[in-house]
Amino acid sequence: AKLNTLAQSIGKLYFGSATDNPDLTNTSYVAIFDDNTTFGQTTPTNSMKWDATEPEQGVFTFEAGDVIANLANSNGQLLRGHNCVWHEQLPDWFTAARLWVTTQAKYSWDVVNEPLNDNGTFGSDVFFDTLGVSYIGIALNAARAADPNAKLYINDFNIEGPGVKATAMMDLVTSLQSQGIPIDGVGFQCHFIVGEVPEGFQQNLEAFTALGIEVAITELDVRMTLPATDELLEQQKQDYQIVISACAAVPKCVGVTLWDFTDKFSWVPGTFAGQGAACPWDENFIRKPAFDGIALGF
Ligand code: XIL
Repeated sequence: AKLNTLAQSIGKLYFGSATDNPDLTNTSYVAIFDDNTTFGQTTPTNSMKWDATEPEQGVFTFEAGDVIANLANSNGQLLRGHNCVWHEQLPDWFTAARLWVTTQAKYSWDVVNEPLNDNGTFGSDVFFDTLGVSYIGIALNAARAADPNAKLYINDFNIEGPGVKATAMMDLVTSLQSQGIPIDGVGFQCHFIVGEVPEGFQQNLEAFTALGIEVAITELDVRMTLPATDELLEQQKQDYQIVISACAAVPKCVGVTLWDFTDKFSWVPGTFAGQGAACPWDENFIRKPAFDGIALGF
């Protein structure tokens, strides 16, 4: 099964995988990544973040991001820029809000990343505390001016199922629309735990698209407490299938991006102690049951 070909055959724009520059030194990895019948899209996991692009104030380093942009281009893969405004991975010098947006991306940008708390209020960070909620519109307007053809997204987690945070995100979209601020889509990160894909995920995607925007699954992985057992891997296969079928069933869910495709380079073990095995390919680049779950979901 060719996952991107499958996705496109049912009208999706892409099936893709995020990547990070160090991954690209592994030839087994690159052999899978470069095949655009498997991955038709990519997102840099780190190299377009603010700490990577402006490590010292006024000193810009776009080279690492450009490596991924150029690779996507030569592979015929769409590129999602990630991200312009986020309260994490800011450079050390950064103490006051000053917003800019670059034109590195082609297809879409996560312009604002994770603006909301789980209770639906705006997160307190250097942007919100300095500018109030207006920072979101400032960033989106700047992104539109810098890259008029890119789809502009707000991206977040814990909005996948219905609830206060999803409602707050819909209210934010409606409010931006009523002010004439450009907002093309909402990204659903989908960093899930085995067996815990939220109820109502598909209906929630539909509720967002009813606002007149597109949606995308932007950072999919399904983690488990290690060690991985056959039973957990089977549940994980079902979880991947549920997520993919939900996007497949929603016409304006444009595509799905894995937050990297192999357990070898997954962010999960480094972030969630004792957890891992979250990706559809294992550490030796062997396809897991989750791979079949994705194919079945399309
Ligand atoms: C993660 C990267 O994968 C890690 O390598 C890095 O150390 C921390 O950030 N939500 C996001 C992503 O929007 O940018 C995060 O990526 C994962 C959670």
